[in-house]
Amino acid sequence: MPTVLYEVKGNYAVMTISRPKALNALNSEVLNDLNAALDAIDFSTVWALVITGDGAKSFVAGADIAEMSTLTPEEGEAFGKKGNDVFRKIETLPIPVIAAVNGFALGGGNELAMSCDIRLCSDNALFGQPEVGLGITPGFGGTQRLARLVPKGIAKELIYSAKNIKADEAKAIGLVNAVYAQEELLPAAEKLAAKIAKQAPIAVRACKKAINEGLDVDMDKAIVIEEKLFGSCFKTHDQIEGMDAFLTKRKEKNFINA
Ligand code: CAA
Repeated sequence: MPTVLYEVKGNYAVMTISRPKALNALNSEVLNDLNAALDAIDFSTVWALVITGDGAKSFVAGADIAEMSTLTPEEGEAFGKKGNDVFRKIETLPIPVIAAVNGFALGGGNELAMSCDIRLCSDNALFGQPEVGLGITPGFGGTQRLARLVPKGIAKELIYSAKNIKADEAKAIGLVNAVYAQEELLPAAEKLAAKIAKQAPIAVRACKKAINEGLDVDMDKAIVIEEKLFGSCFKTHDQIEGMDAFLTKRKEKNFINA
């Protein structure tokens, strides 16, 4: 049984981490399956992705503690790299990725959510980096992404104290964009994915690249990154189509990702 399910719905897709007996905890098998599922996405037709967890209780309850418990320092570093490589793949995926956080998002679960572009959650979601209570640091990007996503002092408080926070607090600190009743979460995430997938994909992808790459450099370099991506949109089918639809007051647009 694959531990990652994948369903294409029109121009977006839903990927589900499915290891319910361990609250979707990430062992090597899940990380391998997730990596393979990401590699198999057909970006010519899939224009946005939702990632969620199987069941009503957990998004992902972290990296697998049983698997980690006997690792040597070298194996620990390699396991961190394995997770980081997959999460970086998500972060730099050409298309926008929405995390639909449907319960526990602890340790590697919060780190998975943070590698996505946008986080939405259910009202039973619980976020945290409990690693120091296990005698380790966050290992799949938590020290880096949390400190970039929320104020540095808040990130440090959460990581140093292993304190978990509920959905409303996650919203208050900007870790998630919105909180939904449990049954409304996936429909809301899919609605957002569908709305993104209705826009010109080449432009959406260029926006993702501009934001991500621009944030890693100073403003002088960042605006050049934007100028180049902005320029790359012109004379594409989708730029001509989008502007023609506006100028001729036509509502329907036929974007083709070219
Ligand atoms: N690793 C391995 N197994 C896990 C797991 C994890 N991270 N989280 C849950 N499970 C397993 C439990 O061992 C249990 O299995 P058994 O039925 O075989 O005993 C099953 O999932 C159900 O879990 P609980 O009985 O504990 O369920 P609960 O509702 O009472 O508690 C919970 C839920 C609060 C999430 C609790 O399971 C928990 O605290 N899990 C660990 C959370 C955690 O510390 N995550 C961080 C891991 S470290 C990490 O992620 C490092 C990194 O950055 C890479």
